[in-house]
Amino acid sequence: MKGIVLAGGSGTRLHPATSVISKQILPVYNKPMIYYPLSVLMLGGIREIQIISTPQHIELFQSLLGNGRHLGIELDYAVQKEPAGIADALLVGAEHIGDDTCALILGDNIFHGPGLYTLLRDSIARLDGCVLFGYPVKDPERYGVAEVDATGRLTDLVEKPVKPRSNLAVTGLYLYDDDVVDIAKNIRPSPRGELEITDVNRVYLERGRAELVNLGRGFAWLDTGTHDSLLRAAQYVQVLEERQGVWIAGLEEIAFRMGFIDAEACHGLGERLSRTEYGSYLMEIAGREGAP
Ligand code: DAU
Repeated sequence: MKGIVLAGGSGTRLHPATSVISKQILPVYNKPMIYYPLSVLMLGGIREIQIISTPQHIELFQSLLGNGRHLGIELDYAVQKEPAGIADALLVGAEHIGDDTCALILGDNIFHGPGLYTLLRDSIARLDGCVLFGYPVKDPERYGVAEVDATGRLTDLVEKPVKPRSNLAVTGLYLYDDDVVDIAKNIRPSPRGELEITDVNRVYLERGRAELVNLGRGFAWLDTGTHDSLLRAAQYVQVLEERQGVWIAGLEEIAFRMGFIDAEACHGLGERLSRTEYGSYLMEIAGREGAP
């Protein structure tokens, strides 16, 4: 399965914080925002990942993450010239996807919760069409909204309905089979001139091949769309990391725990960050598993 992180867009809602920088590079507490969605793909065992951003910002991601080899993954980069819609990422990334299956994640979506690794692994293993992830919210009209029947089966998908018929938002993580590029090529731009991801998902739904996994209570899907929600996301990360002494979305740690890099490499990454608490943390976990 190939991965795509979509990290473009105009970011105008967060000006002036994002006037000269990409939204997905802004820190969420102690690491750039893109670490969070990237960590989700890595937890899903996905190692060939393309990062898509704007012509102005793509180089920032390249200097931040390089070719990914230090994390035992392969990263490449592609440009979306205009914010032509989330589904447009599937066209920009068509060559990267090839005839493989694909996980697309939005670069500003933060997921955290128990069992994320197992949930992703199981969802990828039984992928047949597309898998979407629903999350109950108070303000569903701001999102793609899923309707389900009494058994939890997906019955409808609507993008930002004025009067939502359910409180289940469709989050920005999408798993697709190898039909997705063809489907994306055949949808038409919406009235706001974008290729909507909900239209791609609706094609799968009409074919009876769309599944919704409800993330439910106990799981955190955090918003970063406003200054306040960004601050709250940072506070969430800070509280958990401080209380539990663990790192959320520590890419180096995940690379190590997933077996993408060995203990020695993990220790080496820690050494490079030795003036930070995270550096000591990496050296410590590598040491426990047998690095120098
Ligand atoms: O976050 C989940 C929601 O994301 C879904 O519930 C909606 O169905 C989906 O349409 C989307 O809604 P948003 O209103 O959040 O979409 P927005 O246009 O803000 O784009 C989301 C992110 O993707 C944002 O960080 C910018 C980036 N983006 C967006 C577009 C349209 C791109 O990189 N390129 C684009 O062309």
